[in-house]
Amino acid sequence: MKSAAIRTAVALVIALVVLASPLAAFADDGAALFKTKCGACHGPDGAGQTTMGKANKLRDLGSPDVQKLADDELAAIITSGKNKMPPYGKSLKPEQVKDLVAFVRTLKK
Ligand code: HEC
Repeated sequence: MKSAAIRTAVALVIALVVLASPLAAFADDGAALFKTKCGACHGPDGAGQTTMGKANKLRDLGSPDVQKLADDELAAIITSGKNKMPPYGKSLKPEQVKDLVAFVRTLKK
């Protein structure tokens, strides 16, 4: 009885690790991409405290105003650009845009 419970617990832990690791990789990719492609304007933490960000009054990507946008809207801004923000639809794959949207979600305050 006891060993069955232990086996169940071990199986659960393994399942959790297996399930969680692709998610972690996902966020990591988005974070790395964000740093290289987006950080110059939005800052590494998305707060927009850069020369470029301040000059353009960038909204903090973690702020409620930005977080209330739907995933599709965020993806559309990244793909097609917005005002002074350049479009990334040609240089990023759709999966990378998705990774970036996932990363922007991690910035939520
Ligand atoms: C050259 C500077 C620049 C770079 C690089 C840049 N952005 Fe932007 N981004 C902007 C500007 C400027 C705006 C605000 C547009 C507006 O509302 O006038 C913006 C807006 C956004 C918004 C919408 C936020 C809002 O306030 O409506 C998101 C989301 C976003 N950027 C994500 C990204 C991501 C992800 C990347 C990297 C792939 C990126 N940006 C790269 C300048 C930049």
